[in-house]
Amino acid sequence: MKMKTCFITFAFGAIFALPLTGFTAEPIQVIEPVKQINLALAELGKKLYFDPRLSQSGWISCNSCHNLSMGGTDNLKTSIGHKWAQGPINAPTVLNSSLNLAQFWDGRAKDLKEQAGGPIANPGEMAFTHELAVSTLENIPGYVIEFRQVFGDKEINIDKVTDAIAEFEKTLVTPNSRFDRWLLGDKNALTSEELSGYELFKTSGCTACHNGPAAGGASFQKMGVVEPYQTKSGAEGLSAVTGKDADRFKFKVPTLRNIELSYPYFHDGEAATLKEAVDIMGRLQLGKKYTDQENASIVAFLKTLTGDQPAFTLPMLPPSTDATPRPKPFE
Ligand code: HEC
Ligand code: HEC
Repeated sequence: MKMKTCFITFAFGAIFALPLTGFTAEPIQVIEPVKQINLALAELGKKLYFDPRLSQSGWISCNSCHNLSMGGTDNLKTSIGHKWAQGPINAPTVLNSSLNLAQFWDGRAKDLKEQAGGPIANPGEMAFTHELAVSTLENIPGYVIEFRQVFGDKEINIDKVTDAIAEFEKTLVTPNSRFDRWLLGDKNALTSEELSGYELFKTSGCTACHNGPAAGGASFQKMGVVEPYQTKSGAEGLSAVTGKDADRFKFKVPTLRNIELSYPYFHDGEAATLKEAVDIMGRLQLGKKYTDQENASIVAFLKTLTGDQPAFTLPMLPPSTDATPRPKPFE
């Protein structure tokens, strides 16, 4: 142990020696700000993220359901898509989604790039086709110029569109929450109630599933371990992807980062408040019934996980011209 401390001090300088020697591994780690980003690609992706012309109605953008002014969600039980269709499942946040082991509640997209093609062509969401989305962009001169600048050639295709959106999404991390400041050694960053909530969160076993920098997103777990979860939703979870009966009702463990902002909760959106979500988690996943005070302390801890929200100038979208295909909201 002593040797290791010496080595670390030697290798990284004295400044790191103190935190490392007094280090007890916490199950939730600090969220790092993004480092490697292709800025031009992310800027293009930001425009596409906000552009409703990627939908058939010309009215629905990624931001309609993953509103970056509302924690990257729509705050609805289940999303509303093309022609006011109510979707089957709750929209997870896009914040910190780059930290997920896979995308969607059942993990059916392996990464953000693969995910981003889905909603454009989903009849219940943006209801477009990839071909029509590309042809719309090809008929917006500002995009033609920007795609050429970013990719170095003049072809626009769905691969480039999803590349750009995914690059923008990588920037949507939320560092610097009060909990992160506490992790980094600021002992005054949390109140005693929040700290006791965190202790209870750990000792109860919540961290068996909600761990890592995102406090989730790292595994698929059964909803209803101790007691079954009652729901009207038809979502099957991971078994829809693997075809294995043992994976029925396993969902990707959601991140608890910014959880205060991303209500309502669970894949069916049926838990309206954090109090309710914590109560259900305690009983169904761990067989624990919390007192009001215990529940309140866990909720207080969860609210310390709200980090710096993405902040940027709203992108100006290049205007359509006479040649750009028109929106078809009612078809
Ligand atoms: C009509 C609403 C709607 C629109 C529009 C929409 N999404 Fe989603 N999004 C959802 C819903 C609902 C889910 C969850 C679906 C599921 O898991 O089966 C989801 C899932 C995701 C996820 C996975 C997050 C996770 O933790 O698994 C990402 C990332 C995402 N969307 C990004 C986008 C992007 C990028 C766009 C624009 C190209 C977009 N969404 C457009 C509703 C929408
Ligand atoms: C066995 C794994 C497991 C344990 C233990 C567990 N969770 Fe969860 N948690 C999940 C899964 C899976 C979901 C998603 C369930 C769903 O939507 O059907 C979830 C969802 C949540 C949500 C809602 C997130 C959202 O965005 O909808 C909250 C809040 C939450 N858990 C808090 C807790 C707390 C607090 C504890 C401890 C009392 C806990 N969890 C214990 C696996 C677990």
